[in-house]
Amino acid sequence: MNHLKDKIEEYRKTFDEDAARVKDEKSLQEVRNLYLSRKRGYLTLLFEKLKTLKPEERPEVGKSLNGLKNYIQGRLQNLREEMAGPEETLKKVDLTLPGRKRYWGSPHPIHLFQQEIENIFLGMGFSIEEGPEIETDYYNFEALNFPPHHPARDDWDTLYISDDLLLRTHTSPVQIRVMEKRKPPIRIINPGKVFRKESPDPTHLPMFYQVEGLVVDHGISFAHLKGTLEYFLKTLFSEKIKIRFRPSFFPFTEPSAEVDIECTVCTGKSKECRVCGGGGWVEILGAGMVDPQVFKNVNIDPEKYSGYAFGLGVDRTAMFAYQIPDMRYFYENDLRFIRQFALK
Ligand code: PHE
Repeated sequence: MNHLKDKIEEYRKTFDEDAARVKDEKSLQEVRNLYLSRKRGYLTLLFEKLKTLKPEERPEVGKSLNGLKNYIQGRLQNLREEMAGPEETLKKVDLTLPGRKRYWGSPHPIHLFQQEIENIFLGMGFSIEEGPEIETDYYNFEALNFPPHHPARDDWDTLYISDDLLLRTHTSPVQIRVMEKRKPPIRIINPGKVFRKESPDPTHLPMFYQVEGLVVDHGISFAHLKGTLEYFLKTLFSEKIKIRFRPSFFPFTEPSAEVDIECTVCTGKSKECRVCGGGGWVEILGAGMVDPQVFKNVNIDPEKYSGYAFGLGVDRTAMFAYQIPDMRYFYENDLRFIRQFALK
């Protein structure tokens, strides 16, 4: 038995030497015959010798013999492929098949949409500011004229990190941070993530994006606010989009308004529309004239200056711009959805 095992090892070595000398189809065939020929091939002879072993010895030796056979066949196949010219390779490739497109990835649709919004405001001379997502009670509420324990806070309930630290519920705290540092004229937008205690549904999420706007100067009036927002919404949607301003309340603006656009998902035609509830209008932003108390909190004289502010829900607005019936789609990471927005 050992004799046979030694032979197997020996042939592995001699085969490697013979294979290294192969240079064309003819020498390849010779080596093949030498080892694998059915009549006198070395391996064929070894397989015959296998039969002379005791039955209990056969499996082990048979295994290494088969191993050698696979090894030789594999190497010969490789040598043949290496020697084949480009024409041989081309025969295997079906050139009529369409190419495989590689997907390169792209910015998230919400990010792209936010950029569109930013560009419109940049074009009107606004600049971009940012603020922290973890805020103090002072910036998120107090300085914006929400007294402690005031019921208005309930509408902006959020996650608290400690008694004084919380995830900001809106981008309005950035108004305060900017006005503390800078004196008018101020003309800024600030985009960013905000957080609320909300259960997800087609139009609500516990985390979403807003774009805040703030303009402070001499003689700023509600007409400026209205004109700016109308221009913005018409540029973003279309000249024909229907817009309405409704009186509303925010502690930090007076007077205040909410701005609705017509529901682009059902265009007001469906009584069962899950997006507008059949009313035909959807709210996309809150706005108003900066409350004098807010100016006092940041040492700007409300007798000299006036200003307006607004806060736009980016995800909601994107939903209507793209006519998507459920805001949660943006966050489910289903590539079939996301890829539709990829830059071409
Ligand atoms: N911060 C308000 C909200 O999140 C929106 C708003 C911003 C309203 C600025 C008025 C002025 O609901």
